[in-house]
Amino acid sequence: MAVKSYSVILNKKINEFNKVISVDSDKSISIRAFLIGSISQGISKISNVLLSEDVFSTINCLRKLNCKIVKISNNQYKIFGKGLGSYYAKKNTLLNLGNSGTGLRLISSIISTTPNIEVNLTGDSSLKKRNMSKLISLLNEFGAETFPKNKIRLPFKLKSSNFPVAIRYIAGNSAQLKSAVILAALNSYGTTTVQESFKTRDHTENLLSKNSKSILFKNKKNIIKISGKKILNSINIKVPSDPSSAAFFSALCILNQKSRLRLKNVCINPKRLGFYNILKKHGAKVKIINKKRINNEYVGDILVKSSKINSLKTNAAHYLTATDEYPIMFVIAALTKGTSKFLGIGELANKESNRILEMKKILVKTGIKCKSTNNSMTIYGGRNFINKNNFLKINSLNDHRIAMACFILALSTGIKIIINGFETVKTSSPSFLKIIKKLGGTYEIKKKT
Ligand code: S3P
Repeated sequence: MAVKSYSVILNKKINEFNKVISVDSDKSISIRAFLIGSISQGISKISNVLLSEDVFSTINCLRKLNCKIVKISNNQYKIFGKGLGSYYAKKNTLLNLGNSGTGLRLISSIISTTPNIEVNLTGDSSLKKRNMSKLISLLNEFGAETFPKNKIRLPFKLKSSNFPVAIRYIAGNSAQLKSAVILAALNSYGTTTVQESFKTRDHTENLLSKNSKSILFKNKKNIIKISGKKILNSINIKVPSDPSSAAFFSALCILNQKSRLRLKNVCINPKRLGFYNILKKHGAKVKIINKKRINNEYVGDILVKSSKINSLKTNAAHYLTATDEYPIMFVIAALTKGTSKFLGIGELANKESNRILEMKKILVKTGIKCKSTNNSMTIYGGRNFINKNNFLKINSLNDHRIAMACFILALSTGIKIIINGFETVKTSSPSFLKIIKKLGGTYEIKKKT
């Protein structure tokens, strides 16, 4: 689906606000639910689905793999799962994952252990730039091949394994790669072992956990055992709101004066709460109430108030639970007096854009001094922006989180910013502008002619 390109123009600081909002549903859980439903036995039902481009790309690819998916109301879908190994596609079918790194990594892992599939994989300009060498080596371990050999960026061909066999995997700090191994293992012969050195988001495990014949958790040893070729039960879940989308509005509230925000029914899985924990530790007024457990995920309301915070200091351990929140944390650091330091963030270079370099370039243009290395960022914060009269032009580079972070920077300060390619925000947070309006933020939209 082609989304029309447009820019947003911002030149006014937001007034104080006191609101209750519901942000868009979780992207990681929505994508995983469709994929797991598609390889389960029977009809799966997912409600409160995130209606975003990344999810649509995944659904489109699943349909091309002969999986029946029916929309039963605005955000409710039924998936008619035919079980493990049921994908089918004509040779060289093109699967376009758009902007979605999660969609790409997870669907190619399922394909890799579905015998007799040969597809061409591609994506948008951002996804084509991302290094997929770690993904390719684990697909190879399961016996699948990609062509041309040694090509580590999309587009490439994926030829599945006709006799996939279990592997042993030591997981690093990528939840996508850990999930890719788990999903590929489900249709492999034997028992795959995933040894977790670090705990990363575990939505795949949570969605599969009722399948005790397929997946076993040895929590004390941080080991997950996946037995292949066992039938998976269909799922029936309601997706909670996305804590990563919630982070932008929370940041806006923290940075603004005399404001309060209640964000309802957010996924509060501890492996997703790094942003809130880091900010709380540095003085932000953040509270979580109404905690419940729904479909194996913790859900709650997040309360945020305007706060005076200290410069931020984060380390490699924080990266695991705040992975997607660095662009907005860099903005918070830029607006907070003192020197903020973010360590152990090297993986940000392989996100939708190189988030260390691109955010540094943007902040430097506004007059904020930043220093970066391959693995760190230092921001000398304050509110002395140089851009008072001229509009600062920013290109989103198809990176939704850079676009939203810059939007919050403009609304929090009143500095004049034009963000080109803002449509990329629809990959994760289609209601972003509607919620901003509800909070009283003003902006202008300029469609590309
Ligand atoms: C995701 C994991 C993270 C994150 C991405 C979504 C997931 O990537 O950046 O937006 O759904 O598993 P990595 O696991 O590659 O760090």
